[in-house]
Amino acid sequence: METNQINVMPRIGEAAPQFQAVTTQGPINFPTDYQGKWKILFSHPADFTPVCTSEFMTFGKMASEFEALNCQLVGISVDGLHSHIAWLRTIKEKIDWKGMKNVEIKFPLVVDITMEVAKLYGMIQPGESTTSAVRAVFFIDPADKIRTIMYYPLSLGRNFDEIKRVLIGLQTVDHFGVALPADWRPGDEVIVPPAGSCGVAKERMEGADQQLHCYDWFFCTKPISKEEVESQLGK
Ligand code: BEZ
Repeated sequence: METNQINVMPRIGEAAPQFQAVTTQGPINFPTDYQGKWKILFSHPADFTPVCTSEFMTFGKMASEFEALNCQLVGISVDGLHSHIAWLRTIKEKIDWKGMKNVEIKFPLVVDITMEVAKLYGMIQPGESTTSAVRAVFFIDPADKIRTIMYYPLSLGRNFDEIKRVLIGLQTVDHFGVALPADWRPGDEVIVPPAGSCGVAKERMEGADQQLHCYDWFFCTKPISKEEVESQLGK
């Protein structure tokens, strides 16, 4: 860990800050232990709170979908190990919410009682809370680079379909060398990068790609089928 300041904000395109920590699944070295995998590091304000419980149940239920996308989930809050363990046990044994019950959280939940990791990742945002982390989500690629960051306030639960859509989108961007339009989902048309930014420029100018659809000179798309997108996910 390099700093203890709260004004540090890691940015998209930067290397994910390194840390060692105790978790509910034993000690971890982040992100080194998960090299070659996608990582989602996400914070929640506090154990034994309702919004956080609803989020953990949702993420826990979807965990196998993220595993299939070669993605390791890692949670973090400024609570201690005993609190984490007791809260996860309560979720599994007692909470029946929206048809979800017996939800077992198998991914690591980081103990950050000193707030060192939360500060390192810009998760302490004093205008919202000085004593707990906001709801942050860091998407970190297999080369350990930060690719997307989301911040939500304490009172608003995250949309986990959107978190999965972002992960699938990033994997699609990397694999096909394309950009993705608003609300993109697998099977929707993708955006061919503008002329000059990659090899497609020449192809476009020569009209070689029959599947290209240009709305104007700066806005061209092409189809990639859902099956083609899905066949590369998690690689
Ligand atoms: C919650 O998870 O319910 C929560 C946590 C901190 C502040 C407000 C709500």
